[in-house]
Amino acid sequence: MQEQLNQILEDARAQLEGAKTAGETDEVRVRFLGKKGRLTEILRGMGKLSPEDRKTTGQMANQVRNEIEGLLADRFAAVKAAEKEAQFAREKIDVTEPGKARTLGVKHPLNITMDEISRVFRNMGYSIVEGPEVETVFNNFDALNAGPNHPARDMTDTFYISDDVLLRTQTSPVQIRTLLSAKPPIKVISPGRVFRCDTPDATHSPMFHQVEGLLVDEGVTMADLKGTLDSFAKQLFGTSTRTKFRPHHFPFTEPSAEMDVSCFKCGGKGCRVCKGSGWIEILGCGMVHPSVLEVGGLDTEKYTGFAFGLGVERVAMLKYGVDDIRLFYENDMRFINQFK
Ligand code: DAH
Repeated sequence: MQEQLNQILEDARAQLEGAKTAGETDEVRVRFLGKKGRLTEILRGMGKLSPEDRKTTGQMANQVRNEIEGLLADRFAAVKAAEKEAQFAREKIDVTEPGKARTLGVKHPLNITMDEISRVFRNMGYSIVEGPEVETVFNNFDALNAGPNHPARDMTDTFYISDDVLLRTQTSPVQIRTLLSAKPPIKVISPGRVFRCDTPDATHSPMFHQVEGLLVDEGVTMADLKGTLDSFAKQLFGTSTRTKFRPHHFPFTEPSAEMDVSCFKCGGKGCRVCKGSGWIEILGCGMVHPSVLEVGGLDTEKYTGFAFGLGVERVAMLKYGVDDIRLFYENDMRFINQFK
């Protein structure tokens, strides 16, 4: 019996040495101390022994159980520590590893230009409105006083979708939409895309951007137009910029003009940017034609207004010295990254 107990202790020790996990360790516990464990069986069989044997064997069995319990506790502690160690190794973070750089996007030069133009007019109290790129022939031409025989209506200039629907050739139809939906005082600008049947080259693109402006109120005069656009030019191109208004023709304004700014590159002396003239043409403008105001049902004796339209690409090309309009649409990051 005592030999058996010694054997049990040795076996338990050997098996515990081989236990690698808490689970395996517990299996050993069950094999020796569980309900049907080897030591439990012995203790249960003690009843059959003589009183003296029962005493000595009982003492020894208790001692063996204590030892096995001690071994089990040690083993549990050891495998738990090893498991923690392994977990730490698995979850280790190398804080010295260099970070992964994220490349930030940049604003497109046309957006930069449109945002700058919008900012100047917003500061003067204008709201920003938008119109659709697919427009009616009525809003794009008829209501803007460009009758059925106007040359701009030609198929070679305009992308028609049907007889009555087209891709807007200008942002001016937003004037009509505004007059039909708002009451004076009206003070809006409208940036957006426009489309024309042009073959792309260094200065032409079938899609480009304009910013339209419209102000309608009582007693608005040409002096208001000139003051507003002169202030705009100074804010966009610098305070020493001078402006000049040349007579022109647009069907929806009367009188009409084009505004030139003194060359922001040479200050007016003449250089490559202004082609030697000292002046750069920047926008079209004029006093809103009475028949346009009438589309909005306004009393043309009471209300007057001015309008203007400028090409965003043209401004951006001049400002940034870009000599080919197509660069704006190719999305070559080597080009776009230069405007950071
Ligand atoms: N819509 C004209 C164009 O595309 C630009 C323009 C000129 C707009 C004069 C206006 C204006 O509002 O008053 O060429």
